[in-house]
Amino acid sequence: MNTPTRSSAVPAAGQVWDPRAYARNGRFVSELGAPVLDWLAPKAGERVLDLGCGDGALTEQLVAAGCEVVGGDASAEFVATARERGLDARLIDGQALPFREEFDAVFSNAALHWMKRDPDAVVAGVARALKPGGRFVAEMGGAGNVASIRAAVYDALTRRGIDAVGADPWYFPTADEYRARLEAAGFTVARIEKFPRPTPLPGDVAGWLRTFAQAFLEFVPEGERADVVAEVQEVLRPQLGVAGVWIADYVRLRFIALKKVSA
Ligand code: BEZ
Repeated sequence: MNTPTRSSAVPAAGQVWDPRAYARNGRFVSELGAPVLDWLAPKAGERVLDLGCGDGALTEQLVAAGCEVVGGDASAEFVATARERGLDARLIDGQALPFREEFDAVFSNAALHWMKRDPDAVVAGVARALKPGGRFVAEMGGAGNVASIRAAVYDALTRRGIDAVGADPWYFPTADEYRARLEAAGFTVARIEKFPRPTPLPGDVAGWLRTFAQAFLEFVPEGERADVVAEVQEVLRPQLGVAGVWIADYVRLRFIALKKVSA
């Protein structure tokens, strides 16, 4: 069995984010975040935690809405980029949030699925961070997210004798599963929806894999990574890359949860 070749500390679920590559291959993530912002309905003067703030593109919109915002991310590279935008961005492990009853709302877009090690600790930390009655509004990958991409990557790794399940950095829960976690942590779930959102990619799936699937590729010997990416791309082309337009099979899980006043 192969083991990852990276020897330095590995932050952010096996990913080292390159903000410039992310701006090329992943800008759509924040661009598609508008509906979650609508669900949050931020009000001027509110204190908001943006959990998994990435490069701060949506954090900036919360600031523009008049909120007092703390951005938190496990990637030092993203935190540095968000600070360059003038944001209060902090290096934070979402599974060990350090806040106590100081936020009116916790917002999160496309980040919770990276916090796989201990999802209950994430939800408990959010509950601690919120004032009583505060809201947790988020969108993440839901069960079935990028299923065909994940299956093709699993096949490519398994063929090489690599434990794909062990390498997998993603947590995509069902609505029922996440609702149960929220309720166990003292939230009332006001709304939760899981729905497919086929997502056009700015390039091909190879660019997506290099940006978002590093944790899998880390287990592949360096000299074979380009082959794996090319192999996965060819397997997926008839399904996701028709006529040269790549559309990823995203599934979103979006919710509003309210911290009970007595919790
Ligand atoms: C997502 O936003 O659903 C996602 C992005 C990258 C990898 C996995 C999931």
